[in-house]
Amino acid sequence: MADAERLICDAAALTEGGRGVRFEVEYFGEPAPAFVVRFGGTARGYLNRCSHVALELDWREGDFFGADGRDLICSAHGAVYDSASGACRGGPCNGAPLVPLRVTERDGKIFFLGFADD
Ligand code: FES
Repeated sequence: MADAERLICDAAALTEGGRGVRFEVEYFGEPAPAFVVRFGGTARGYLNRCSHVALELDWREGDFFGADGRDLICSAHGAVYDSASGACRGGPCNGAPLVPLRVTERDGKIFFLGFADD
Protein backbone atom coordinates (compact mmCIF):
# COMPACT_ATOMS: atom_id res chain seq x y z
CA MET A 1 0.00 0.00 0.00
CA ALA A 2 3.00 2.24 -0.46
CA ASP A 3 2.23 5.73 -1.66
CA ALA A 4 4.63 8.37 -2.94
CA GLU A 5 5.43 11.31 -0.68
CA ARG A 6 2.81 13.92 -1.29
CA LEU A 7 2.32 17.52 -0.16
CA ILE A 8 -0.71 17.96 2.12
CA CYS A 9 -0.54 21.61 3.18
CA ASP A 10 1.58 24.40 4.59
CA ALA A 11 2.75 23.65 8.13
CA ALA A 12 1.27 26.95 9.29
CA ALA A 13 -2.20 25.61 8.49
CA LEU A 14 -1.94 23.32 11.52
CA THR A 15 -2.11 24.89 14.95
CA GLU A 16 -1.77 22.98 18.21
CA GLY A 17 -5.13 21.36 19.00
CA GLY A 18 -6.74 23.39 16.23
CA ARG A 19 -8.48 22.60 13.00
CA GLY A 20 -7.18 19.79 10.86
CA VAL A 21 -6.65 19.57 7.13
CA ARG A 22 -8.46 16.94 5.15
CA PHE A 23 -6.91 15.18 2.20
CA GLU A 24 -7.40 11.98 0.29
CA VAL A 25 -5.35 8.78 0.21
CA GLU A 26 -5.66 5.48 -1.58
CA TYR A 27 -6.62 2.73 0.84
CA PHE A 28 -6.92 -0.81 -0.47
CA GLY A 29 -7.18 0.57 -3.98
CA GLU A 30 -9.99 3.01 -3.21
CA PRO A 31 -9.92 6.74 -2.48
CA ALA A 32 -10.40 7.35 1.23
CA PRO A 33 -10.64 10.51 3.33
CA ALA A 34 -7.77 11.30 5.67
CA PHE A 35 -6.73 14.19 7.89
CA VAL A 36 -3.79 15.73 9.62
CA VAL A 37 -3.79 17.72 12.87
CA ARG A 38 -1.10 19.14 15.12
CA PHE A 39 -0.77 17.75 18.64
CA GLY A 40 2.23 17.83 20.97
CA GLY A 41 3.92 20.07 18.42
CA THR A 42 3.87 17.28 15.85
CA ALA A 43 1.74 16.67 12.77
CA ARG A 44 -0.39 13.54 13.21
CA GLY A 45 -2.25 11.91 10.37
CA TYR A 46 -5.07 9.37 10.36
CA LEU A 47 -7.58 7.90 8.01
CA ASN A 48 -10.78 9.90 8.49
CA ARG A 49 -12.74 6.79 9.31
CA CYS A 50 -14.13 5.98 12.73
CA SER A 51 -13.46 2.46 13.98
CA HIS A 52 -17.04 2.20 15.28
CA VAL A 53 -18.77 2.73 11.93
CA ALA A 54 -16.85 3.79 8.83
CA LEU A 55 -17.94 7.43 9.07
CA GLU A 56 -15.82 10.57 8.93
CA LEU A 57 -14.99 12.01 12.33
CA ASP A 58 -15.13 15.78 11.91
CA TRP A 59 -17.97 17.82 13.36
CA ARG A 60 -17.63 20.40 10.66
CA GLU A 61 -15.00 20.11 8.00
CA GLY A 62 -11.63 20.10 9.79
CA ASP A 63 -12.98 20.03 13.36
CA PHE A 64 -11.59 16.86 14.94
CA PHE A 65 -10.66 17.86 18.48
CA GLY A 66 -12.94 17.99 21.48
CA ALA A 67 -13.41 21.28 23.29
CA ASP A 68 -10.18 20.82 25.29
CA GLY A 69 -8.07 20.50 22.12
CA ARG A 70 -6.57 17.22 23.34
CA ASP A 71 -8.55 14.19 22.19
CA LEU A 72 -10.00 13.47 18.76
CA ILE A 73 -13.77 12.99 18.99
CA CYS A 74 -16.02 11.34 16.46
CA SER A 75 -18.99 13.56 15.72
CA ALA A 76 -21.36 10.67 15.05
CA HIS A 77 -21.52 8.91 18.44
CA GLY A 78 -18.69 10.39 20.49
CA ALA A 79 -15.84 7.86 20.23
CA VAL A 80 -12.72 9.36 21.84
CA TYR A 81 -9.26 8.79 20.33
CA ASP A 82 -5.80 9.63 21.61
CA SER A 83 -4.48 12.43 19.39
CA ALA A 84 -0.89 11.19 19.54
CA SER A 85 -1.50 7.54 18.70
CA GLY A 86 -5.06 7.16 17.43
CA ALA A 87 -5.79 4.66 20.20
CA CYS A 88 -9.39 4.42 21.38
CA ARG A 89 -9.71 6.11 24.76
CA GLY A 90 -13.40 5.52 25.28
CA GLY A 91 -16.85 5.33 23.79
CA PRO A 92 -18.14 3.23 20.92
CA CYS A 93 -14.71 2.61 19.35
CA ASN A 94 -14.50 -0.11 21.99
CA GLY A 95 -10.71 -0.41 21.94
CA ALA A 96 -10.26 -0.20 18.16
CA PRO A 97 -7.87 2.56 17.01
CA LEU A 98 -7.86 4.94 14.07
CA VAL A 99 -5.69 3.93 11.11
CA PRO A 100 -2.49 5.97 11.53
CA LEU A 101 -0.64 7.58 8.63
CA ARG A 102 2.99 8.56 8.33
CA VAL A 103 3.30 12.30 7.85
CA THR A 104 6.25 14.61 8.20
CA GLU A 105 6.94 18.30 8.43
CA ARG A 106 9.79 19.72 6.36
CA ASP A 107 10.64 23.17 5.02
CA GLY A 108 7.38 24.61 6.29
CA LYS A 109 5.23 21.97 4.60
CA ILE A 110 3.38 18.82 5.71
CA PHE A 111 3.83 15.70 3.60
CA PHE A 112 2.03 12.35 3.52
CA LEU A 113 4.53 9.48 3.41
CA GLY A 114 2.28 6.43 3.56
CA PHE A 115 0.58 4.18 6.04
CA ALA A 116 2.19 3.36 9.36
CA ASP A 117 2.62 -0.28 8.38
CA ASP A 118 4.14 0.41 4.92
S1 FES B 1 -19.26 6.33 13.93
FE1 FES B 1 -17.79 7.24 15.24
S2 FES B 1 -18.59 6.88 17.23
FE2 FES B 1 -19.99 5.87 15.91
